[in-house]
Amino acid sequence: MNDMTINGRRGNGDGRKKPIHPGSGRRNALLHPKGRVLSCEDVETVRGIIGDGPYERPLLIEYLHKIQDREGCLPAGLLHGLADLMQIPMAEVYEVATFYAHFDVIPDGAPRPPAVTVRVCESLSCMMAGAEQLIAALQSEANPDVRIVRAPCVGSCATAPVAHVGHRHVDHATPEKIMKLAVEGETHPQVPDYQTLDQYLASGGYEVLKACLAGKHTVDDVIAMLSDGGLRGLGGAGFPTGRKWSLVRAEPGPRLMAVNGDEGEPGTFKDRHYLETRPHQFLEGMLIAAWAVEAQEVFIYMRDEYQAVLEILRRELPKLQAANLAPHTRINLRRGAGAYICGEESAMIESIEGKRGLPRHRPPYVAQVGIFNRPTLVNNVETLYWVPEIISKGPAWFESQGVNGAKGFRSYSVSGHVANPGVVLAPAGSTANDLIRLCGGMAEGHTFKGYLPGGASGGILPASMADIPLDFGQLEKHGCFVGSHAVVILSDKDDMKAVALNLMKFFEDESCGQCTPCRNGTEKAVQLMSRPAWDKELLEDLAQVMRDASICGLGQAASNPLASVIKFFPGDIVTK
Ligand SMILES: Cc1cc2nc3c(=O)[nH]c(=O)nc-3n(C[C@H](O)[C@H](O)[C@H](O)COP(=O)(O)O)c2cc1C
Ligand code: SF4
Ligand code: FES
Repeated sequence: MNDMTINGRRGNGDGRKKPIHPGSGRRNALLHPKGRVLSCEDVETVRGIIGDGPYERPLLIEYLHKIQDREGCLPAGLLHGLADLMQIPMAEVYEVATFYAHFDVIPDGAPRPPAVTVRVCESLSCMMAGAEQLIAALQSEANPDVRIVRAPCVGSCATAPVAHVGHRHVDHATPEKIMKLAVEGETHPQVPDYQTLDQYLASGGYEVLKACLAGKHTVDDVIAMLSDGGLRGLGGAGFPTGRKWSLVRAEPGPRLMAVNGDEGEPGTFKDRHYLETRPHQFLEGMLIAAWAVEAQEVFIYMRDEYQAVLEILRRELPKLQAANLAPHTRINLRRGAGAYICGEESAMIESIEGKRGLPRHRPPYVAQVGIFNRPTLVNNVETLYWVPEIISKGPAWFESQGVNGAKGFRSYSVSGHVANPGVVLAPAGSTANDLIRLCGGMAEGHTFKGYLPGGASGGILPASMADIPLDFGQLEKHGCFVGSHAVVILSDKDDMKAVALNLMKFFEDESCGQCTPCRNGTEKAVQLMSRPAWDKELLEDLAQVMRDASICGLGQAASNPLASVIKFFPGDIVTK
């Protein structure tokens, strides 16, 4: 039976019900509302957590964070209450909440998660440092108040293995350290010593910004200095920064700006280093950029894993306003929620708008149609960090720092089997051999075998090719790229097949699922790469389809490590 026969009132005279057309408006309403029933109590609970309206649609993720922080999860009833308060469909709230890894949506009647969540990084550098053994040991403890969750790179690869106990970051993690913090409820971030506004001002900080705001520099001069100095985007793509600012300026106003602080590429931790040590140098660069492109508003998009950085920014940003250092723009701080793809600039913009982080098709480019469809400047944290120094010391100073034909400094994030891993500030164009030397050589007992020149996406090169300058445009002919300059050093103790599989699993987990070549391709690749013998022909075919037909850089680059292992490390795999 269906609605048309149940509810039809008029018969045919022969006892048969005449169906009533659904669009006629003559059908009876259902006796109860469709779907779940809204509870007034849930609405009031949400109001108590997020405050009184008006509620802004772009702040949906911020509201979800507030509920998750308070409740430890997102019960379905509260999501319904939130949808009601915001006057948007429940489906919209649900699709956003379930997209991000840091939100725990709990169906009605289901148990809530344990009080403490421990996220153990399982990405490459942590895997090489024993993350699997750590996870196994923690799981064997079986504490009902603590749950152990696998997580992708948390931006601390030099101190692997790493875990987060709630929001507390644990370097060189052991089961004992983790469980002690979890049991004692030590789940809050520890803010490191950093250069405060007063200290930065005392060292001559914000002088360049003040000169810009006072009209002592023209925008054209500043852009010319960045271009002459050779500053390029350090988020991964290496686009010339001065040219990008000019392109955005050429678009009609009002214009906006976004800072990419998502830093999710496994192996990368340089942005975090600057944010936790000299946040104001970056903030000054950001404010100079906002002045140059006349951005009405700036959105700092900071990954949720960087809780200490979020705390630093919450303390320091109001001081900027109070010191009248940002009279020309409005600064907004936005918190990611555990999605690597939100580092891709158009996905980040979607997320800033309070949506799922699905990359957009281009053109139009974000410089033309970005946040709220306005022309938008997107820059990486480290790119902006260099701006005040290049202007105060002059472009020639920066340009002359490079070697092997490259320009400027680079902050290489070096991890893996070196004696002293960490952020290495070195001339652009340095080689992997240089970096190993600067890190005190290989770790004891390890012989150099190969390296990732550009994080998970940048492919893998053998030790015999460790004298190539690590700069934009130098590695592409080998099927690799330098990206965010995350260099992971591998040794004779590493199985390249396991390395490539770890990286492909990362992409499988982090694919946004929007396009088939990436969503299905990464999953299929993981299956094929897990077999004892690799079907080389099939894998190469799959890699080509993913490269050619994926919408964004994630799917296009996901097969780079796989292709590198086939090309450079044939002895590490059995093929058929
Ligand atoms: C899958 C993917 C992830 C990315 N992740 C980041 C990131 O975490 N941080 C970042 O600054 N750029 C990231 N990018 C690059 C950005 O899309 C963009 O090029 C960059 O933020 C622009 O700033 P820049 O010119 O200063 O480098 C990513 C790109 C892709 C394709
Ligand atoms: S390539 Fe992957 S991450 Fe990018 S849009 Fe397609 S499915 Fe999403
Ligand atoms: S923190 Fe574990 S790989 Fe980066």
